[in-house]
Amino acid sequence: MKKILVSPSLLAADFSRLGEELDRIEAAGADMLHLDVMDGILVPNISFGMPVIASLRKTSRMFFAVHIMIVDPIRYIDALAKAGADGVTFHIEAARDVGAVIDAIKGHGMKAGLTLKPGTPVSDLLPWLPRLDLALVMSVEPGFGVQSFIAGMMDKVSAIRSQSLRAGNPDLIVQVDGGVDRTTATACGAAGADCLVAGSAVFGKADYAAEVTAIRAAAAAGWENR
Ligand code: DX5
Ligand code: ZN
Repeated sequence: MKKILVSPSLLAADFSRLGEELDRIEAAGADMLHLDVMDGILVPNISFGMPVIASLRKTSRMFFAVHIMIVDPIRYIDALAKAGADGVTFHIEAARDVGAVIDAIKGHGMKAGLTLKPGTPVSDLLPWLPRLDLALVMSVEPGFGVQSFIAGMMDKVSAIRSQSLRAGNPDLIVQVDGGVDRTTATACGAAGADCLVAGSAVFGKADYAAEVTAIRAAAAAGWENR
């Protein structure tokens, strides 16, 4: 069966107990941690930044996948590497020179991801697939957790998955972020996503492991039925 990666989003964690939350999420079998860094300009919210990532880096060996919602992202790639990011995903709408940002991320030995808002056509992203480690489809408007999953975004996932095969990048991770839970995960897997971000569906629940396992199983079932 296809191995589906689950990446809990720290945005939904209890910020007064972050170290403990990380321990619990790792023990729950999460594959990587999703860290949403927002600038209040690209998206109408501000979350956390480098000092928080650097502090958490000292307490955890998990893969830190940082989703930056920042205008002109190239300005912060060095600082993210220094803070301990393992991967950085940035918005195509925010970058003046997408290729330069990818090069900067990879230049630090980090994995490069590119994402797009719900209103941005997938055709903007497809030409970049050969150079990416990860493509992220936003299934809500970025900026906030606990929003409803936009099922129509799964067409973008299918387009990215088929284009990644045509473009000779079969190992591309195709990720979905926003409104993912044990129900909507099936549609994500069915469209060809192999990595799911989940915030409110995991953090705050009584049993993190049960949620992570259920999301992974639902997505794997969708994947097998493609
Ligand atoms: C939204 C963030 C998401 C968010 C997801 O801007 O990119 O990662 O935390 O939260 P849920 O899973 O609650 O929709
Ligand atoms: Zn995110």
